[in-house]
Amino acid sequence: MTDHHFYEPKHGHGLKHDPLNAIIAPRPIGWVSTLSADGVRNLAPYSFFNLFNYRPPILGFSSMGWKDSAANIHATGEFVWNLATRPLAEAMNATSATVPAGIDEFALAGIEALPSRLVKPDRVAASPVQFECRHTQTLRLETLDGRHLDQWVIFGEVVAVHIDKAMLDDGAYVTARAEPIVRGGGPADYFAITGDRLFRMRRPD
Ligand SMILES: Cc1cc2nc3c(=O)[nH]c(=O)nc-3n(C[C@H](O)[C@H](O)[C@H](O)COP(=O)(O)O)c2cc1C
Repeated sequence: MTDHHFYEPKHGHGLKHDPLNAIIAPRPIGWVSTLSADGVRNLAPYSFFNLFNYRPPILGFSSMGWKDSAANIHATGEFVWNLATRPLAEAMNATSATVPAGIDEFALAGIEALPSRLVKPDRVAASPVQFECRHTQTLRLETLDGRHLDQWVIFGEVVAVHIDKAMLDDGAYVTARAEPIVRGGGPADYFAITGDRLFRMRRPD
């Protein structure tokens, strides 16, 4: 029989480090740019992030506490998702610093911006893919015993997509070409996606 470490989270994990975010890993990164109501540019990474629907494309991320990105999206209804890649990793990380809401995080991290087409927040110029989004829903997470957490899942519909054409091969987007980075566990682990780990498996008919 397998020797399992078993625990009920409400009683603690009993390990030196909480294994949760090392287990649900790697996670894609929602690198989100927003504008505050008074026009200050904000940029921050969120790894509790994913795409939840194809048509229309809807993505979402979870804010642990009511952070500036959440507040800005509620104030303006708009945000941009930028693909985080290996060459942009350090810049992405710099934008996770806790800074006052009045600080321009593009300027802070030395990130060049490009205007968007349909929404007001800027895009990360060096990121090979950017999605312009409009806010659709915010879900406040609740526990089994009905407690309302200060944990907010923010959803948006993608209204415009920018893809660097160098990422396309005969009309197909090549995931590994941009070397996207994904979050591992612990305080510092990431993985860079490279083509050598690719395998293919079709769904049964
Ligand atoms: C790779 C990475 C992933 C992160 N994921 C999350 C997340 O999913 N949820 C969250 O609340 N904070 C997350 N953080 C922390 C935020 O980026 C950080 O609190 C940031 O200051 C929030 O910025 P804002 O207040 O400008 O929105 C993450 C940080 C890094 C570096």
